[in-house]
Amino acid sequence: MAQSDIQLQIPSAAFYIEPVRAFVGNLAQSLGFSRKRVADIQLVLDEICSNAVHHGSADATVGVKLCISIDTRALEILVRDTGGRHTGEKNWLTHERLSEIEMNRSPNNERGHGIFIAKSLADMHDMQPNEAGGTDVRVVFRLSKPRDIEI
Ligand SMILES: Nc1ncnc2c1ncn2[C@@H]1O[C@H](COP(=O)(O)OP(=O)(O)O)[C@@H](O)[C@H]1O
Ligand SMILES: [Mg+2]
Repeated sequence: MAQSDIQLQIPSAAFYIEPVRAFVGNLAQSLGFSRKRVADIQLVLDEICSNAVHHGSADATVGVKLCISIDTRALEILVRDTGGRHTGEKNWLTHERLSEIEMNRSPNNERGHGIFIAKSLADMHDMQPNEAGGTDVRVVFRLSKPRDIEI
């Protein structure tokens, strides 16, 4: 089955998230995802990119990489950042930190909903440290009815 990869790099600034969101939305629609699923994909992408920009980038110049893989059954998005501006400690999202964030999530807390949204809506969600000292977030969305299209 054919697989295609698309790579994008944006400056670490919220301004560039909307164009990426529009692009991925169009792509998902062309692949045959339902309108609801396209909206889910865009929401998750927005949250992950916002995190990469706001928590995983030392400044606007470092940039955020996106690797998008598509085949006729699924859309996979990897968002790679280079780590935030913490000194003396690892600045990628450790599993311990993730558990702490999930425990502290509450209606009164305005933080911690982005990761929850991504985990709830994606068919697969994974976060790992990367060699650049940042975080790799990978999400997969599967097509419920795989289409036999040429890509
Ligand atoms: N890419 C990332 N790099 C470093 N830390 C991150 C990253 N993404 C999320 N985090 C950490 O996880 C926390 C929770 O993220 P999230 O659920 O999106 O809520 P919020 O962004 O509103 O704080 C963030 O506050 C941050 O501490
Ligand atoms: Mg967030």
